[in-house]
Amino acid sequence: MVTNMKQIKVKLKESPYPIFIGENLKKEISGYLKDSKLGNFAVIISSKKIHSLYKGFISTLTGKIPNIVISVADGEAAKSKKWLFKIINEIMAIDTWNKKIFLVCFGGGTIGDLGGFAASIYKRGLPYIQIPTTLLSQIDSSIGGKTAIDLEKAKNVLGSFYQPKAVFIDSTFLKTLPLKEIRQGMAEAIKYGVIADKNLFDFIDANHCRLMKLESNPLKRLIFSCVKIKARIVEKDELENRGIRTVLNYGHTLAHALETASKYKKIPHGSAVSVGMAYAGRLSCYLGKCSEGEAVRVEKVLKSFGLPWNTAFDASKIFKALVYDKKFISGKIRMVILYKIGKVEVLSGISPEVIKKTLALFTKTQH
Ligand SMILES: NC(=O)c1ccc[n+]([C@@H]2O[C@H](COP(=O)([O-])OP(=O)(O)OC[C@H]3O[C@@H](n4cnc5c(N)ncnc54)[C@H](O)[C@@H]3O)[C@@H](O)[C@H]2O)c1
Ligand SMILES: [Zn+2]
Repeated sequence: MVTNMKQIKVKLKESPYPIFIGENLKKEISGYLKDSKLGNFAVIISSKKIHSLYKGFISTLTGKIPNIVISVADGEAAKSKKWLFKIINEIMAIDTWNKKIFLVCFGGGTIGDLGGFAASIYKRGLPYIQIPTTLLSQIDSSIGGKTAIDLEKAKNVLGSFYQPKAVFIDSTFLKTLPLKEIRQGMAEAIKYGVIADKNLFDFIDANHCRLMKLESNPLKRLIFSCVKIKARIVEKDELENRGIRTVLNYGHTLAHALETASKYKKIPHGSAVSVGMAYAGRLSCYLGKCSEGEAVRVEKVLKSFGLPWNTAFDASKIFKALVYDKKFISGKIRMVILYKIGKVEVLSGISPEVIKKTLALFTKTQH
């Protein structure tokens, strides 16, 4: 197939699939849809905002294959029962015996999660492809087959593991993405370097100006490296039951507590992960697992991207939010700990006292 893109295969036993990475992939996507024979009718899930930005792209995306476009709410609001059933009802309305329907998720992580979930449950599964348009969805959520919607009380509680047939990552979509969203994605990109690839981390550090300017080559290199790491981890632990996918949660324990505690003054996910990584680094030093120099270096890189590596929070309030987390039920906590940049491990048996103390130290020593 085509030349202006690179390919990474997610080698899963039951449902392997390709991830294509490049620029201006429209022709390639239409070609794939024609050749792959996923179906003869496309349901494109997108949002009003994406639709208005990429009207031309959407209008010819499926080539000769007929389609309908369903525009859902912008952001997290899309991941709801309301929008799930809107999609299901619209699919039912057009579903006839001679139609072989497939879905196309075109948007950020919220659209991918919602569309993927709808695809997984309608008639026990329709094929779907992902065309992610945010940095976060390009390096993280579009890969790995985790799909979900939120219920009033909790995020991602209705969901499934359901792999796409293909993922098309076109970095040119990022040109219209607000800088604050680029930053959120960068936090997860830095995370990949920290957990698995020192060279990637060094590359991000050395190229932060070019990356924030969205220069094509460094951006594609960044996306390629992150996707490769995620694909390799997913291959080893597709259903997250072997503990391998857990390393992707580096920085996420504190991040989730911060997100819960800041319900009314929403801290964005990437920012929360950034603070969470800084804390995990400091905790790792306290536990004698890594040198202070490594932890400080991660903080420095986070800072260079305008990400918070500290934030004024009430340590005892955050500790409470952590205690409510089910990971604490047995009295001890399990967390991903830094050994050195590029190497992390899951450590069990961390006592609540240590967490309490290091949280207090963290808030005191950071400015
Ligand atoms: N399935 C997974 O494995 C996984 C992993 C991580 C996160 N997630 C989920 O992903 C979601 C977050 O994804 P997200 O950060 O992409 O958020 P998002 O989908 O809400 O997109 C962020 C914002 O950017 C806008 N946008 C998207 N693409 C654009 C473009 N090219 N130009 C201009 N604006 C654009 C959107 O309209 C939205 O306002 C969360 O719901 C999270 O739970 C899932
Ligand atoms: Zn995350």
